[in-house]
Amino acid sequence: MSERETWTSRVGFILAAVGSAVGLGNIWSFPFQTATNGGAAFLVVYLVAVFLIGFPVMLGEFVIGRRSERNAVEAFRALGFGEWSIVGGLGVLSSFVTLAFYSVVGGWVLSYIVGSVTGGYLGDAGAYFGTVSAGPIAVAAHAVFMALTVAIVALGVTDGIERATKLMVPAIFVLMGGLAVWVSTLDGAGEGYAYYLSPDVGVITGDLAGIVPPAVGQAFFTLSLGFGAMIAYSSYLGRDDSLPADGSAIVVVNTLVALLAGFVVFPVLFAIEGSIPESGGAGTAFTALAGAFSQIPGGRAIGLGFFIVLLLAALSSSISLLEVSTSFVADRTGYDRVPTAVGLGVLVALVGIPTALDTGVLGWYNDVVFNLLLPLSVLFISLFVGWVADDQLAAELNLGSSFGNGFSTVWLWWIRIVIPVAIGGTLLLGIQSLLVKAGVLAAPIVLG
Ligand code: PFF
Repeated sequence: MSERETWTSRVGFILAAVGSAVGLGNIWSFPFQTATNGGAAFLVVYLVAVFLIGFPVMLGEFVIGRRSERNAVEAFRALGFGEWSIVGGLGVLSSFVTLAFYSVVGGWVLSYIVGSVTGGYLGDAGAYFGTVSAGPIAVAAHAVFMALTVAIVALGVTDGIERATKLMVPAIFVLMGGLAVWVSTLDGAGEGYAYYLSPDVGVITGDLAGIVPPAVGQAFFTLSLGFGAMIAYSSYLGRDDSLPADGSAIVVVNTLVALLAGFVVFPVLFAIEGSIPESGGAGTAFTALAGAFSQIPGGRAIGLGFFIVLLLAALSSSISLLEVSTSFVADRTGYDRVPTAVGLGVLVALVGIPTALDTGVLGWYNDVVFNLLLPLSVLFISLFVGWVADDQLAAELNLGSSFGNGFSTVWLWWIRIVIPVAIGGTLLLGIQSLLVKAGVLAAPIVLG
């Protein structure tokens, strides 16, 4: 087996991890979730979830990866707890299923780049979404998006992932910053900011049970937790990095991009009347934005810039999703990275086809990942870190850390008690919502 690669620099690792974190979750879902869930009030719940629940779990994945220097499945065995490998297996499965539908949405983004150039969505934004979101065009665009993902992963950790994210992440920032400045000049920008940022506290106090699970789910998803991606990425790290410092940087930058996305989306939506979508469902973001781009001055150019940012963000995340299974299969079998990435990419593309034919199926994949696989994986990872491999992992966190040993003690107790309780509650509410949607339960039992 060839020698395991490592990141060439600390910045390389941070940018790759930021690339994984910043994705469709930040730019496509976050602004709409915020808007429909009480504006700035949701933001507060989300920020609490990101910093107090997401960040400690991220450190948990980092120590597992760096200590073991293995992929998400074999990491558990290398630490001496082979029976926990099933948790890594759950991560591989989740990353696989997620990539299958994530790539379909990535394909939509490609179609919207084309639509910005050709003017395809200018006439009727709803009809355009109907054409590109399900059917042969969606399947073809999904295949192209997967091919791009495979190409980067096949090139390797340093020549592929690190090099690509070093270009993509700064480009996302520059383009998004430029767009935010540009759209601030649109009529209606002020109202857009007000809508985005005014806290509607009533929504939060009235429906806490409805807000907390999506906020916690979004926090895990946006930080790429639970799928083994951060385990895989940190397994290519040297010992002298301060994990708490790197983790803080990643979480802060990821949050800034999400916030910035809102500063682009809302002025655009408020530049024309009546285009605030009722719900943040799969298609609304695309139809509402494309509808607005067709009517505002310079809209097509803004649209092109926006969808390019979305593509870069989606790609820098999808490569980390594919890296989870690629590193597992390549480590395990000793196969070369290129055939491994290609083979897995083809498999993922096939699994994604039903979601490219029917947006309802896509919604189902999404619900199962969000309500079940994600919280379940994170719950097991926290139990493993807090109660099973706690001593060696707390020691690992101290290596290279600038935060002192007291930090790792507090972190360990937090991950032992607070996190499992928080996720356990989220998981129950998530399963309940799946059962209600499937018609097994007529109405919620807990906190209905
Ligand atoms: N963090 C990505 C986003 O916000 O779109 C999604 C993601 C990527 C989740 C990689 C999980 C993962 F392993």
